[in-house]
Amino acid sequence: MTVHDIAVIRGDGIGPELIDAALTVLEKVSDTYGFDVGITEVDAGAGTYERTGTALPPEGLAAVRAAAATLKGPVGLPSVRLPDGTEAGLLGGVLRSGLDLYANVRPIELLPGVHSRLRARPGSIDYVIVRESTEDLYASRAKDVGTATAMADSLRVTRRGCERIARFAFDLARTRSGSRPDRVRRVTCVDKANVLRSMYLFRQVFLEVAEDYPDIQAECLYADAAAQALVMTPEYFDVVVTGDMFGDILSDLGGGTVGGIAMCPSGDVGDGPACFEPLHGSAPSLVGRKKANPTGQVLAVAMMLDHLGERAAARAVREAVRGALDMGTVKVERDGRCDSGPAAAAEAIAREVQPDA
Ligand code: IPM
Ligand code: MN
Repeated sequence: MTVHDIAVIRGDGIGPELIDAALTVLEKVSDTYGFDVGITEVDAGAGTYERTGTALPPEGLAAVRAAAATLKGPVGLPSVRLPDGTEAGLLGGVLRSGLDLYANVRPIELLPGVHSRLRARPGSIDYVIVRESTEDLYASRAKDVGTATAMADSLRVTRRGCERIARFAFDLARTRSGSRPDRVRRVTCVDKANVLRSMYLFRQVFLEVAEDYPDIQAECLYADAAAQALVMTPEYFDVVVTGDMFGDILSDLGGGTVGGIAMCPSGDVGDGPACFEPLHGSAPSLVGRKKANPTGQVLAVAMMLDHLGERAAARAVREAVRGALDMGTVKVERDGRCDSGPAAAAEAIAREVQPDA
């Protein structure tokens, strides 16, 4: 039997409840599809930082590197701060730069049974944000920039970084299935090339790469205009490629149009091991209240299964989520919370896993 070795980071706040939920579904789908999953638990995040002084101890990083994939709960606690005042225990940057996970892949899809504030039809919103996440503005956080001046954060991109993320986005537009078979395969580059020189380079390289993909429509949009368009005409989008900061902001905006960020998974992908998590944070105020919505975390399992080559099992998880939402056995409130709590929701999703998805 195939065994996939994965690392699991339970995370902070609602992370552990969500990981339990995700593992319930993973166990059902691995039984159904005949593969095994070997799990190495990695202690990491804000709680770990508080206890040990480091958010990801070296043996944890080694385990993440050695695993085929990492399933990660949300990390970070607003109360745990670094000496410079920024939040501690945020693993995103550490993992993304440490493993060179340059493509942060964020599917934004309106699922059945979920209320969209836009009153959109399920299936009408279905696009993916590809966020470059080893360069741009947040990368400077990883350096010793000090706190004395407002120049501490700087925006740096490289031709190589721009090129590989553009290729990633075009390749995704070519291969992704999407829920609308008639969709126009299109990559929209979102930047601020009219103001920032770094983003001018991002756009130039995007347009150069586009020439290698004549079968995919390529276009550019300024980030402010993109924010409007993602609300007013979300059905227009297929793949959006952008830098780290705009990708961060626009992916939460996208989540807000499909029932909330709790509905969305997120994958950090490079050329080797990858990491999958929900789009949202650790929501400490929801801990233990049976309100946390595990959908994004469970859909992260589906993304991970695709990465592991278990495509049928990945499809089965997505179909199970749709089925449970459609039938109302998983109910998402208008505020994005789940009124049955993560454990019951996971059971309901696991019951929907079919052997022939
Ligand atoms: C995300 C998160 C993180 C990020 C934070 C917590 C550092 O907001 O993954 O979108 O922006 O990278
Ligand atoms: Mn974010």
